[in-house]
Amino acid sequence: MTHNIPQLTLNDGHSLPAIGFGTYPLRGVEGRDAIQSALNSGYRLLDSATNYENEGVVGRALRDFLADSGVTRDEVTVQSKLAGRHHDYDSALQAGYESVTRLGLDRLDVLLIHWPNPITDKYREAWRALVELQRRGVVRSIGVSNFASEHLDNIVDDSGVTPAINQIELHPYFIQEKMRAAHEQLGIITEAWSPLGKRSAPFDEAPVADAAAAHGVTPAQVILRWHIHNGSIPLPKSATPSRQVENLDVFGFELTDAEVASISSLTRTDGRLFGGDPNTHEEM
Ligand SMILES: NC(=O)c1ccc[n+]([C@@H]2O[C@H](COP(=O)([O-])OP(=O)(O)OC[C@H]3O[C@@H](n4cnc5c(N)ncnc54)[C@H](OP(=O)(O)O)[C@@H]3O)[C@@H](O)[C@H]2O)c1
Repeated sequence: MTHNIPQLTLNDGHSLPAIGFGTYPLRGVEGRDAIQSALNSGYRLLDSATNYENEGVVGRALRDFLADSGVTRDEVTVQSKLAGRHHDYDSALQAGYESVTRLGLDRLDVLLIHWPNPITDKYREAWRALVELQRRGVVRSIGVSNFASEHLDNIVDDSGVTPAINQIELHPYFIQEKMRAAHEQLGIITEAWSPLGKRSAPFDEAPVADAAAAHGVTPAQVILRWHIHNGSIPLPKSATPSRQVENLDVFGFELTDAEVASISSLTRTDGRLFGGDPNTHEEM
């Protein structure tokens, strides 16, 4: 199946598909099969991380897919994330090479710092290492994940380089208005993790269910379309082939502004799913 997925342009001139595929916790043979099925469904952006321990199967699924499909390497974006234990400059440089090698690819398309870990306070040097990896052509685009505004300002001040992406928790229970506005001001693309709300998905909430009924689509499709409407890139994960197809099929309808506003009104201050506060979370 092929879909015409719109592309969003990054501040470094490269582009990203408007929706991607989350690969956590897909590992091993089942993981490889699920990722290959996602590629066959039409996903062209894969979100991995060193700490997902699945860069190997992500790369393997992609290489098998490219060999069979006629799709070229340049048509697929592979994204990984630097782990917290590798924030030292030299360690971060080496980790970038290790990620590419584990993926079995000649280059990584996107590398993000997974969490800022302000407690160890080494994210500025980790960012300088990503800038160097980009300069060396190991990585095409560089960005961050789970950075608060203060962390973004600090790396931009320190390096003069603005990240292309900040991947943050974002779903109707946690709409991150301030961060999305900060990203817009800085020219950073927002990627949404747990875009469906994972375990506590708001499928049964009236604004979502009503919009689904009005447009003849599923609640998951309404939530993913809400992200697209807001200009954020959702990264839904599903190990279920039929849901993979469903989640990608969100470009044939549009939500009204009133529906978008009503879904956004589901947000709540305790909407964070994992307590992952960027200022206190420590990622190894
Ligand atoms: N940067 C970070 O710190 C960070 C943190 C968390 C996640 N992430 C990234 O974000 C990705 C997605 O996050 P997530 O897995 O936490 O949350 P999610 O994508 O919001 O939710 C995944 C869950 O929803 C189910 N699901 C998927 N499509 C569905 C549909 N159409 N209808 C009903 N249920 C559906 C999946 O079940 P089945 O698989 O059984 O179909 C799975 O249990 C991860 O894979 C990872 O790549 C990043």
